[in-house]
Amino acid sequence: MQSFWRKWGQKYFELPLFQRMGLDIRGKDILEIGCGSGYGAFLLNQLNPKSYIGLDLMEEQIKLAREKYPHYQFIVQDATDLSQFAEASKDVIVIFGVLHHITDWQKTIDEIARVLKPNGSLFIEEPRGIDIKFFDFFFRWGHPDSDFGLKALETYLQSRGLNITHKQWTPLLTIFHCQKA
Ligand SMILES: C[S@@+](CC[C@H](N)C(=O)[O-])C[C@H]1O[C@@H](n2cnc3c(N)ncnc32)[C@H](O)[C@@H]1O
Repeated sequence: MQSFWRKWGQKYFELPLFQRMGLDIRGKDILEIGCGSGYGAFLLNQLNPKSYIGLDLMEEQIKLAREKYPHYQFIVQDATDLSQFAEASKDVIVIFGVLHHITDWQKTIDEIARVLKPNGSLFIEEPRGIDIKFFDFFFRWGHPDSDFGLKALETYLQSRGLNITHKQWTPLLTIFHCQKA
């Protein structure tokens, strides 16, 4: 369940930063990875995409999303397996703070690189690896023990032909816009 502050951050901080980096989804096919209880779906659908699908691993989150936003499409799906989506079938993929929750986050990037159309866009918001470790140590937040970090993410994105066109660091999180070659 997304808290008031989480939604506030998505609406007034992350989405505007994505838009400043070129997020324009009018008339486009978009996929949101790790949509949680659906507030990102609400925001993104205000921007008139042609189609929207939000996916999340947790059934409870998808149930909440469907209850709150019955007009949008949500599916329960592990983001490391996007085989139900055809190659080069999505114009834009959006991730609000999810990769650092996935042990095999590289598999998700592999899948995104396959599913995005040429020149398609990937927008990512993630925290720094060191901050995740800080919160896990002091507040026992319990993220998976993975090798996730922003440097590793950048290197992996580039290796999969997802060229980073914009990067904005903030004290809380970092935002990327990548374009598929
Ligand atoms: C920090 S929450 C972010 C939720 C939402 N995007 C937001 O910004 O509020 C991380 C989300 O990623 C989902 N998630 C974790 N591992 C996943 C996976 N392997 N595949 C799909 N979703 C996953 C969780 O269920 C959770 O909803």
